[in-house]
Amino acid sequence: MPSFRTRHSLVFALLLVACHPQSGSAPSPSTAAPGATAVPPTAQIDHRDAPKMAQATVDAAFPQGWRFPSGTKASFGEHAMVVSNSALASEAGVEILKAGGNAVDAAVATGFALAVTYPFAGNIGGGGFMNIRMADGRTAAIDYREVAPLAATRNMYIDANGKLTNKSVLGHLASGVPGAVAGMNAALTKFGTKTLAEVMAPAIRLAEQGFVVDSAFSRGINADKRDISLYAGRDLFFPNGEAPAPGARFVQQDLARSLKLIAAQGPKAFYDGEVGDSLVAEEQRGGGIITKADLQAYTPLWRTPIKSTYRGYTLFTMPPASSGGITMTESLNILEKFAPLPPFGSTQYVHLLAETYRRSFMDRNEKLGDPAFVKVPMEQLTDKGYAATLAAQIDRAKASKTPAFNAGREPEHTTHYSVVDAMGNAVATTTTLNGGFGSKVWVRGGGFFMNNQMDDFAAQPGSPNMFGLVQGEANAIQPGKRMLSAMSPTIVLDPQGQLLMVTGAAGGPTIITATMEVILNVIEYHMSLADAMRAPRLHHQALPDEIRVENNGFSGAVIDSLKAMGHAIRSQGGIANVNSILRVSGGWHGVFEPRSVGGAVGY
Ligand code: DON
Repeated sequence: MPSFRTRHSLVFALLLVACHPQSGSAPSPSTAAPGATAVPPTAQIDHRDAPKMAQATVDAAFPQGWRFPSGTKASFGEHAMVVSNSALASEAGVEILKAGGNAVDAAVATGFALAVTYPFAGNIGGGGFMNIRMADGRTAAIDYREVAPLAATRNMYIDANGKLTNKSVLGHLASGVPGAVAGMNAALTKFGTKTLAEVMAPAIRLAEQGFVVDSAFSRGINADKRDISLYAGRDLFFPNGEAPAPGARFVQQDLARSLKLIAAQGPKAFYDGEVGDSLVAEEQRGGGIITKADLQAYTPLWRTPIKSTYRGYTLFTMPPASSGGITMTESLNILEKFAPLPPFGSTQYVHLLAETYRRSFMDRNEKLGDPAFVKVPMEQLTDKGYAATLAAQIDRAKASKTPAFNAGREPEHTTHYSVVDAMGNAVATTTTLNGGFGSKVWVRGGGFFMNNQMDDFAAQPGSPNMFGLVQGEANAIQPGKRMLSAMSPTIVLDPQGQLLMVTGAAGGPTIITATMEVILNVIEYHMSLADAMRAPRLHHQALPDEIRVENNGFSGAVIDSLKAMGHAIRSQGGIANVNSILRVSGGWHGVFEPRSVGGAVGY
């Protein structure tokens, strides 16, 4: 039976042909006239002092049969860049930047616009993580992850026979208490310069006046027709039994109304007002357990980003309740022990990355959870000495083994967006409903989908969740607890301490590995951002004990030798959905995921 991801990825893969964007009409760093572009007077970053790696970019060589050619250009912005999975949402961010807003204003504008134009994952009924670095060097991370409802119980998804049900995936019981509205508002209040009403204006306009549907949108909705039609979204998304056709205008009056209430009243409209009332009424209609008290109790949390280093570069990554920062830091610390890394795409490259991921995911899956509920050994896991011990255990000639479990169901859908403004402020945000359209429950009157984030808990420790992730007690369900995430919005500084990259991904656990690989492609393999994004990806998450590789991404000879070393290999369509910005000579390169849809809009 094809997994959800297989079906969905196929849809998106097909869309690529139709929707593949203008990938940049502006000059690449190598063709830009040196010094031809003026740096805005307020900019703290001197673009003329381009990072060494940008100048040293080398041609990437991908195997024959790989679907993306190397050498394609990125979108270029002299001053600023917004990259997301929706061109309209990226434009919303740029609109706010051009109106004098900073990167945080733009990120919040993009976030709300995604809730309108990218309902697969953009949301107000979900949650996420935002990683911020201001040009003056201040860094901050906001965790607006959902929490388990107060009435949640440890075994709420296990039936009388001890079997896991799919109620953490589909339907009213699957949702955690949403954090998106509170989180985006908190970020805006602390670091933004504009009002909520100002940054929400583009989203409200897109919901109220509608936007023209493209084939990606239409097919994406049709792909989930059966499940969406089980709930109140049926009439909006399948008005005559079919998704809006490409070219049709898609208007969302209920959502427009909710957004206007939030813009006027602030988060109170959602957590203690009319929008929240619609949400609670929907929960009650369908046997859900989120109450008014849950909404009133919700609080986003400011966290200190994890600061890690890799060969002179500095990374700011997301701490728990995401596993992204710890797992990425642990992996990079292991890889740092191998200098230089094996040639990109070689057997040794895949083997070393897979063995590294295996070890850091074993720690992740067992030890990480919401730090308010479990003691997370963060210092140990991010310690370079600890990584040296793990690195020493890697046999360069042979695969090791993770104790076996079965793989389970698979995912969609999250969305990452990256923003840099003309001052050099940077925001990396990942947000999600978890699955595509979350629980598929659409809030009647409220006009939005609810998440199915409860599935990110270990609903039955030791049994795989929808990503095949096998996790332990640390991530078991408890009321008020945040479910462990893999979301990894990341900001990278070059060895001189200047902003270099803003990146992050969607894709469940592959978020961590794909984000890391794009960063490595740039800083270790000296690829252009366009090539770094197009390069073949691999993934290992300890269990199931297999290396996932993209079809035709690695040569037959490499795959054969990996098998001979004892690795199980699973070949699949696209891995993850990354949206990135890289500082280059004279400005910024932006590249949205070539395996999916989106827009990189600079100016
Ligand atoms: O927080 C997490 O790690 C997951 N809920 C992310 C889900 C996801 O990326 C689905 N994918 N495309």
